[in-house]
Amino acid sequence: MMRIGVIGTGTIGTLLVDALIKSKAAKPHAISVMNRTKAKAEALAKKHPRLSVCESPIDILRRTDLIFLCVKPNQFFPLLRPLRHAWQPSQLAISVTSPITIKQLETYVPCPVARVIPSIVNQSLSGSTLVTFGTHMTDLQKSRLWAVLAQFSNPIEIDEASVRAASDIASCGPAFITYLLRKMIDGAVTTTPLSHKQATQLTTEMIEGLGNVFQEKLYTLEELQNKVTVKGGITGAGLNALENAFHDAFENLFRATQEKFVEDQKKVRESFEQEES
Ligand SMILES: NC(=O)c1ccc[n+]([C@@H]2O[C@H](COP(=O)([O-])OP(=O)(O)OC[C@H]3O[C@@H](n4cnc5c(N)ncnc54)[C@H](OP(=O)(O)O)[C@@H]3O)[C@@H](O)[C@H]2O)c1
Repeated sequence: MMRIGVIGTGTIGTLLVDALIKSKAAKPHAISVMNRTKAKAEALAKKHPRLSVCESPIDILRRTDLIFLCVKPNQFFPLLRPLRHAWQPSQLAISVTSPITIKQLETYVPCPVARVIPSIVNQSLSGSTLVTFGTHMTDLQKSRLWAVLAQFSNPIEIDEASVRAASDIASCGPAFITYLLRKMIDGAVTTTPLSHKQATQLTTEMIEGLGNVFQEKLYTLEELQNKVTVKGGITGAGLNALENAFHDAFENLFRATQEKFVEDQKKVRESFEQEES
């Protein structure tokens, strides 16, 4: 039985534990968690009886084989420094954060490493997880990790150069699309007699149905847009208005996330060099 450890039970650590258990990828008794503020880990154990709550990261390393490191980028090196000599060669350390490179992890963690970027949609056992394998992973470790992730997501291998853009779509995308949906609701409410409640219900049911249409592979994105857009019709008029407002919105979005990514990587590099010296 593979024993899974989760260090950091904030948003992503909790999401991973919930998805592992819901998908039956792991039983609660095979999962050990710890969090800096212990109450958070205990709350998770209340939700999943038989989940073990550990006192320290070292405890997690003593008890588990596959260890998800679910802390923020600036919390990584302070967490990893005291663990340097605690890892076993058979263990796998998995980072969930994009600005820390595999190379940086490999210089800091003596066992094989990988990176997995989850998405909030994994909670409903759907969507992608973005996987970057470390250079020291064995084929068995790769296939084991893949099999675990495949229980609650569609794992996709992503190289270092594409990890930010891929994360923008797979992991930040739910927030971006939700923002657009909320804008649609606000627009309807301020310019038409539709109530906020009605607009919200119609919007959430529409997006749920849209997800189902794509899940059933009924149309490609382009086919769907063409099906709904009658030439010279009302949808076309709406799309023209959108094109005027949004024609370069996503280019700007990807530029903005790349800029923030470079800034985050610089901060990580500085803290990494500080830790090294
Ligand atoms: N949020 C997303 O949708 C998303 C998606 C993909 C990837 N990620 C990545 O996931 C990582 C975590 O993000 P998050 O949103 O889950 O952040 P979060 O909610 O702030 O969770 C981080 C958790 O780590 C705990 N922690 C910090 N240092 C620790 C230590 N030394 N030992 C044990 N626990 C420690 C914190 O404990 P306290 O309770 O004491 O603060 C907190 O509960 C980030 O690196 C982010 O890039 C996030």
